[in-house]
Amino acid sequence: MGYNCIKFDKKDKIGYVTVNRPDALNALNLEVINELTDVFTKISTDDEVQIVILTGEGRAFVAGADIGWLRSLDPISGRTMGMKAQAMMDLIENLDKIVIAAVNGFALGGGNELAMACDIRIASDKAKFGQPEVNLGIIPCFGGTQRLPRLVGTGMAKYLICSAEMIDGNEAFRIGLADRVVPAEELMTTVENLAKTILSKAPIAVKMAKASINNGVNLDLRSGCQLEIECYVSNLCTEDRIEGMTAFLEKRPSQFKNK
Ligand code: COA
Repeated sequence: MGYNCIKFDKKDKIGYVTVNRPDALNALNLEVINELTDVFTKISTDDEVQIVILTGEGRAFVAGADIGWLRSLDPISGRTMGMKAQAMMDLIENLDKIVIAAVNGFALGGGNELAMACDIRIASDKAKFGQPEVNLGIIPCFGGTQRLPRLVGTGMAKYLICSAEMIDGNEAFRIGLADRVVPAEELMTTVENLAKTILSKAPIAVKMAKASINNGVNLDLRSGCQLEIECYVSNLCTEDRIEGMTAFLEKRPSQFKNK
């Protein structure tokens, strides 16, 4: 599939996905959602990509769903659109690889929801986050009312969604919506360095840690800890854990083999 609205590159085990509709501030329409679904489906089985950086072209990460498209929807097509977009968010969230959002600019509505579906969000100090749907007479429907309270707490989620207030990268970091905030000119270097750091770790352990967190976070504490034990025990079967511990004891760098 050729892409009209996104770009995809890969280099040194890093996949770069860039939403590329800068004239519309990268707003999500059906074509963008289909292309993101396609690229993340392909990435899921692409051994040349072990970690993904998702960003936006120009001055926006993604400024939300395309409002012209939203206006044309009725309840039936609106449900189909919401389900499709939610499936794309789920695909990213549950990908067997870490996805880092490099939030370069506006991350509004569906853009904030897209960033929240990623594993880690690094924000430029020029980024703007928000859920402005109530300005348009609607509520978030790409997972915003669910992922936002899980990240920042119910009170702050209600504050942001019901006021439609836009916050900058520093405030997003302060409330836990962004995991780090850096000067705009350092964003991609910071994100690439983080990707390289994660790539240097035991790959199966990284995947299992993501799975344990994702699958456990909505369980009660005891069930979550039980799940963690099962993930930990299956990790003990890997060659890489012998290598990691042996390397430590022999005071040398680990040579992980993804086995
Ligand atoms: N859907 C469709 N088009 C959008 C869009 C969206 N969500 N967000 C921005 N655009 C388009 C604008 O219509 C404009 O197009 P034009 O040049 O053909 O007129 C272009 O992107 C640039 O946006 P503009 O509003 O001129 O830039 P700005 O710097 O003045 O304002 C924003 C930037 C992000 C504050 C403003 O575009 C905005 O509020 N966008 C909507 C955000 C939103 O409500 N998202 C949630 C949707 S559910």
